[in-house]
Amino acid sequence: MQVSMIVAASENNVIGVDNELPWRLPDDLKFFKKQSLGKPVIMGKNTWISLGKALPGRLNIVISATLKEVPEGVLVFSRIEEALDYLRAQHHAEVAIIGGGQIYKAAMHLADVIYMTRVHTTINNGTAFFPVIAPGQWQLVWEEAHPADDKHAFAFTFQRWEAQKTNA
Ligand SMILES: NC(=O)c1ccc[n+]([C@@H]2O[C@H](COP(=O)([O-])OP(=O)(O)OC[C@H]3O[C@@H](n4cnc5c(N)ncnc54)[C@H](OP(=O)(O)O)[C@@H]3O)[C@@H](O)[C@H]2O)c1
Repeated sequence: MQVSMIVAASENNVIGVDNELPWRLPDDLKFFKKQSLGKPVIMGKNTWISLGKALPGRLNIVISATLKEVPEGVLVFSRIEEALDYLRAQHHAEVAIIGGGQIYKAAMHLADVIYMTRVHTTINNGTAFFPVIAPGQWQLVWEEAHPADDKHAFAFTFQRWEAQKTNA
């Protein structure tokens, strides 16, 4: 099963401010939908609260040790590894880890692919962050630029990174 992470981060790795996204970028939301639709998605409790409802067309999994009630169909696991084991047993081909900062940090070493939208701005009041993509451990295999326009306050670049697995 391929473990993918999907994220949009500023130049200084900010992904959230006060449990919301720092921007509104409709074409990035379309990219997110395209990459995640039909796949199980794993998110942390704060991201679940921030979304406010399950993402349609996807199996929604929340990682939390404290969450009490979720709508029917949404699954809760207390550890990321438990969720991945469950999905592997269900023979899913790919899972998308969709944030937020704490979950990305905990899952970085488990991921095979990162779909990164690098938003070309610096956010100074960030409260959630994406980990640094360590050079040597990850390879940039594709990117596509998107300019700023009347619907997008910032230019951004879609990127696909692949983990460099060592053959031990
Ligand atoms: N730009 C993007 O692409 C993007 C994507 C997603 C989210 N975001 C933003 O990210 C922010 C939320 O991120 P966040 O870092 O505050 O929270 P988070 O990662 O969404 O959720 C953290 C919570 O998940 C639970 N958890 C379970 N296993 C964990 C583990 N191994 N490590 C850490 N937490 C674990 C904990 O809840 P319990 O205490 O209940 O166990 C923890 O408090 C928001 O601003 C949101 O808008 C941005």
